[in-house]
Amino acid sequence: MRDRWLIDGHWLGDRCAAWLTVHDPATGAEIARVPSAGETEARQCVDAAAAAGRGWAAQPAEVRADLLDRAAETLDRRLADLARGITLECGKPLRESEGEVRYSSDYLRSAAREIRTLHEEPFETGRAGTRGVAVHEPIGVCAAVTPWNFPLAMLARKVAPAVAAGCTVVAKPAEETPLSALAFAEALQASGLPPGVLNVIVGEPAPIVDTWLADPRVRKLTFTGSTETGRLLLRGAAEQVIRCSMELGGHAAFIVLAGADVDQAVAGAMAAKFRNAGQTCICPNRFLVHRSIATAFTARLALAAAELVPGRGVDPASTLGPLINDAGVGKVRRHVADAVMRGARLVSGGQTEPLPGCLDRFFLPTVLADCGPDMLCFREETFGPVAPVMPVSDAEEAVRVANASPWGLAGYVFGPRPEAEAVARRLACGVVGVNEAAPSNARAPFGGVKWSGFGREGGPWGLMEYLTVKYLAIGQEG
Ligand code: SIN
Repeated sequence: MRDRWLIDGHWLGDRCAAWLTVHDPATGAEIARVPSAGETEARQCVDAAAAAGRGWAAQPAEVRADLLDRAAETLDRRLADLARGITLECGKPLRESEGEVRYSSDYLRSAAREIRTLHEEPFETGRAGTRGVAVHEPIGVCAAVTPWNFPLAMLARKVAPAVAAGCTVVAKPAEETPLSALAFAEALQASGLPPGVLNVIVGEPAPIVDTWLADPRVRKLTFTGSTETGRLLLRGAAEQVIRCSMELGGHAAFIVLAGADVDQAVAGAMAAKFRNAGQTCICPNRFLVHRSIATAFTARLALAAAELVPGRGVDPASTLGPLINDAGVGKVRRHVADAVMRGARLVSGGQTEPLPGCLDRFFLPTVLADCGPDMLCFREETFGPVAPVMPVSDAEEAVRVANASPWGLAGYVFGPRPEAEAVARRLACGVVGVNEAAPSNARAPFGGVKWSGFGREGGPWGLMEYLTVKYLAIGQEG
């Protein structure tokens, strides 16, 4: 297990004065101690990335793509160890962590495919004698700041297109879950990534990120995290006019139309809502269910949710891990209490489950009936295993309530196909699953609108975030 920083190809930090402790969120046990970097190391990362950038950008696309393919194979070979590492530091069940490792190698392969097929684009300028060519160039040094809920995949989906494009990266994972990021960096290094192309440090966010944003050599910031932090980073990025991609909070609506197959909708709700104990940005946060089936949907969802088995992620029987910390548990409790106080009916869950040897962080899957837009859980992201259901009279009402949120990352519509697709097209968000509970895919564009941010990750859209377009206006000679 790597528990030092990677800067310019070297694993550093042994003599650091300050250290961060990484804990198992299920038990609170110490997993590792990692040196805590500051301004000096942040600057060293940029020095290394800027120096490596010249050579890396000059490599043929095929060389960069081959490297990413090899890195994907390394991740696949190390799947069991990487998955165990994710589970230990972030708590999710092992099976979900294995899925996250595969998801990460998908991003590496997808970026490799995209850069192989990217070509210069000649075009007609409309001016006699002048030919136009659009040339794609790497944007330069990219700063990546990643969250704890997908500690491997969120870094992979930033680093893969950056490296494919010919950029170099300085990265800071969340303090809660730095080990998966370091393991990812080691896997890329073992696959032949040259020193300095990817540099990873761990530490308190402000000194590191402020140093990066003040450095004119950093040309791109890519961030996944809360809207509140995103706003701060955007202000910081303004000074050097750094290009940004922001994947911020979500508040997904899950719409079930009249005539929907209730069992299919319940299965979809289970998969989308309780993944990672509800701690994903695209988890449904508001269930808007047609009145004619709301009672059946709610009852079946509560039955299915009761089948989930809370437990440590490393226990193969567990299907619901802990929340990441006590603050997360506190927020979930507040949302449930507020909903009940405002008239919601608690159908199942609503409390934590004490488990031997564990912290009090296992919130039972919770289903709330008769919810409404005035409740906290309908106004902000819960980031926990709570499914509040509001009956709606028709698709119009569902769309109106769904779009009333300032966030717009993901949405879901279950129901008869032509109508479900038409409703999906009216939702103000970046990703919509239509009779599909797991829309995320490394080949697809992922990102939001409004307070959920901007920029896309995945497929050709993700690659373009790391390229600038240079226009060559080529006239006649003489
Ligand atoms: C996220 O929670 O931000 C990522 C979820 C996904 O990629 O499916």
